[in-house]
Amino acid sequence: MNRILRLQLLLLQLLATSACERSTGQVVAALMPGLIQPPEALDEDPAADRIRVTLIAEATAHGYTYSGSSPGPTIVGRVGDYLEVQLINRLDAPTTIHWHGLTVPVSEDGVAPLVGPGERRVYRFPLTHAGTFWYHPHFDTAAQVDRGLYGMLVVKTSDQPALPELVLIFDQPLEQQVHDEPPAHGHGQLVERWQVNGVAQPKLALPGGSVVRARVLNASNYGYLDLRLPNLGIIAKDQGLLPGWDPEPLILGPGDRAELELRVGPADFEIQTNPYTLNGGARWGEPQTLLTVIADPPAPLPKSADWPFMAAPSPPDPGATDIVYAFAGSDRIGHWLINGQAFPNITPESVAVGSRPIIELVNVSPTEHPFHTHGSHFEILSIDGVAPPFRRVEDTLNVKIGQKVRLRLLADVPGEWMVHCHILPHAEEGMMTMLRIE
Ligand code: C2O
Ligand code: CU
Repeated sequence: MNRILRLQLLLLQLLATSACERSTGQVVAALMPGLIQPPEALDEDPAADRIRVTLIAEATAHGYTYSGSSPGPTIVGRVGDYLEVQLINRLDAPTTIHWHGLTVPVSEDGVAPLVGPGERRVYRFPLTHAGTFWYHPHFDTAAQVDRGLYGMLVVKTSDQPALPELVLIFDQPLEQQVHDEPPAHGHGQLVERWQVNGVAQPKLALPGGSVVRARVLNASNYGYLDLRLPNLGIIAKDQGLLPGWDPEPLILGPGDRAELELRVGPADFEIQTNPYTLNGGARWGEPQTLLTVIADPPAPLPKSADWPFMAAPSPPDPGATDIVYAFAGSDRIGHWLINGQAFPNITPESVAVGSRPIIELVNVSPTEHPFHTHGSHFEILSIDGVAPPFRRVEDTLNVKIGQKVRLRLLADVPGEWMVHCHILPHAEEGMMTMLRIE
């Protein structure tokens, strides 16, 4: 399945220039069909600040698609745009679309109501924050996402360098089959069969000297990425640009995103992931190559772009705690719990609209969990007592075994919101609760 995909610097630059002149920005490389890029969603609304997109959920011989592709079309907008997405359900099962990482009114969040087979509905909301988001069903989520229902949603601002961009969605196909019939080795080591935008180990030819912005998503049901990143700087996490952040390695759990600055120089390089185990045991196996970048033609390594990083200080921890979420459970008992409760038998917590509740996450389970909130983002106050060096806003955060994480929730949008682990089998086996913002 390896393909060498070539693109011309000139074309990239042309596309980059035209992109910044459009009212709805383009993920530049998405325009190039050979570049293992998901198609870009078509904007059916002529108004400059409105985007209207149709997504048709459909079953094909190769799985589920949105408008014929998996990953689905990349939706690109700018802060201030108003987005309308019409979902047409041609599956033989109900579905929905959830806008992971976006702040939308609760009626548009895609948890309820269900859109039945043959039905359609329109989701409508303004794009309020820049960042790299994604969309996926929130009904029978593990099965529908596993079959290929997901896509990227990029929200841009006009103050950022007009660079060519790539969408890199990492996933492992048919994970639910493996999960439902677990392989013999059941000690947390994950089967590694990664694909990039649906292609195994693609090769990507980029001209030496180019600087490309790569938007990365882990769309896997339960696979973790432990990325090795030569020639790459991490410029952003879930909710926009972050200054000087250089975790080594970059661990991306299910549902998590990052943005990378990819600099192509004199030599080819690979993006690899190391084997990962969720339960703290020894890892075995070799690093797996996810993607090879071919420097074609080679050239000296270019400088970093001039990113408008916002280096706000991390907010102080007031010390008190409003909500504790303790994660427990195990595969052996087949239940995953938050505060001893398995969804739907839960007691929702409540906080006031506009408040800044302090949430403490405690992981007393034998495995890691990517914690995800709908409807609001959170600032990280500390991880195991250590505050981040700058304000870090996230909507999906991996919590390791035994870890204690303190968060400040930006509880601005009223509603009853899902809060859950983004390991999809864990969510389905109970690790979900609700938070009322009222
Ligand atoms: Cu990405 Cu509740 O979901
Ligand atoms: Cu979990």
